[in-house]
Amino acid sequence: MSAPYEQLLDATIQHLQDLKGQGVRFLPVAPETLAALKSIEASPRAPLRTVAAPAPPGPAPVALPPASTPVQESLLAPASPAPTVLLDPQAKAEAMKELRERALACQKCPNLASARKNVVFGVGDINAALMFVGEAPGADEDVQGEPFVGAAGQLLTRIIQTMGLSRETVYIGNILKCRPDTPGQSSGNRKPTPEEMKTCIPYLHEQIDLIQPKVLVGLGATAVEGLIGKSGITRLRGQWHTYRGIPLMPTFHPSYLLRTQALSDKRKVWEDMLQVMDRIGLPITEKQRGYFLKA
Ligand code: URA
Ligand code: URA
Repeated sequence: MSAPYEQLLDATIQHLQDLKGQGVRFLPVAPETLAALKSIEASPRAPLRTVAAPAPPGPAPVALPPASTPVQESLLAPASPAPTVLLDPQAKAEAMKELRERALACQKCPNLASARKNVVFGVGDINAALMFVGEAPGADEDVQGEPFVGAAGQLLTRIIQTMGLSRETVYIGNILKCRPDTPGQSSGNRKPTPEEMKTCIPYLHEQIDLIQPKVLVGLGATAVEGLIGKSGITRLRGQWHTYRGIPLMPTFHPSYLLRTQALSDKRKVWEDMLQVMDRIGLPITEKQRGYFLKA
């Protein structure tokens, strides 16, 4: 690459990092610029990606948290999220497709890669205002290649519908894209290990960076710990947290609701969803407000 090109690249990176230091999270990008970036991307000599600011070569720079981001980031989160470039819908769809293809070919956890039937990438609208994050695929999800389709998933689908939404109008993903293997057992689930979570979570970070939902819902202890590095779902739920500048509502996992069958727990999850509906500006009927209250 030519020296002037390198200088331009360095100056651009510096400028983006300065903006990030000032708390800027979005950059308007002209369609012609995106088109130009795509032509660079297509060149094998300069493998730039349009999704995020180009990373400088060599060791990562010392991360300065953006001014607007509270210090609540997950220990698993990358130290320095790149400033997000707003993509046009087509570029966004292409970037998500490319990310899905990378995840589907992933072999980073050899035990999971050899045991899985499918990589469970995520499902829904990549332009959704609302994104749900769970823990990991179970047996049903592994077979179907889609998150939250088993018993817990059917309950999640009902919760989403009760909010007046559908699986197609939200986005649903998991911390882990592969089912945690259970060698020697024909059934049952296990929690992802911290190592597996650390290995897989960059895919989720990229998904969230692309989707840029208005609100995230963390389903259960593992999802919330993966996202914001905090444990204690009973204490955390019902309160707003922040994941890289995005409001995050932790709530109980639907499988927990299935286990306890307690009306009081269902009501807690429902109150959390009412807060979410309010935050994204969904209308709430009196009937909806009253669900799961004791008769
Ligand atoms: N539980 C999860 O956390 N995710 C799924 O996709 C299914 C069950
Ligand atoms: N414990 C968990 O791990 N998740 C829940 O949702 C509730 C209790």
